[in-house]
Amino acid sequence: MSAKKILIFSGSIRNDSVNTKLAVAAHAAALQAGADATLIDLAEYPANIYNGDDEASNGIPKTMQRLKKLMSQHDGFVVVTPEYNGHVTPLLVNTFSWLSRKEEDEQGMIAFAGKKAAIMAASPGKLGGVRVIPRLREMLCELGVMVVPGSVALPQAMQAFDDEGNLHEASSVSAVKGQVERLLQSI
Ligand SMILES: Cc1cc2nc3c(=O)[nH]c(=O)nc-3n(C[C@H](O)[C@H](O)[C@H](O)COP(=O)(O)O)c2cc1C
Repeated sequence: MSAKKILIFSGSIRNDSVNTKLAVAAHAAALQAGADATLIDLAEYPANIYNGDDEASNGIPKTMQRLKKLMSQHDGFVVVTPEYNGHVTPLLVNTFSWLSRKEEDEQGMIAFAGKKAAIMAASPGKLGGVRVIPRLREMLCELGVMVVPGSVALPQAMQAFDDEGNLHEASSVSAVKGQVERLLQSI
């Protein structure tokens, strides 16, 4: 049987993003679990803020067409998001808005339909971005993604990683591993 294909991305493109560091940790856990796992940087998929007039005049941006195709070729995703005022980042909202738009020949939302996902968040605060988790879950469910139970919320994330990007706490490593394995079992 071929390895399960999962795509991992962070909802922050900030240099030194703690969510991207957590995405790197999830990628390592997925490889260790035998998945065919790919970590991507959404900075490589820029797109204007969604505007229906822009879409009507120019169509779906090439970057979003590329990302949509890539997602359609995977079984599942690990989405790692910062919490902005309790919500999903504008980057993820915008990216998902574009990805939900269909080309004329497409049947359904090919980036999302039938896919599985695991959700993680990291924050410098004490709650680890826990408020964003149900909001991202709801957003993905609305798009047709089945989100596995549970989540990872990494608090005090500025202190959570060493200089090589490894998580200090064994409990955090095991939380990431557990969530990635739950995703892989669901595929
Ligand atoms: C507009 C904005 C809103 C924020 N709101 C929250 C919040 O609701 N909860 C939280 O824990 N952190 C909040 N933060 C702090 C982020 O968690 C922090 O900037 C974090 O480092 C962002 O993730 P990143 O390091 O992956 O870029 C907010 C930051 C910004 C810029």
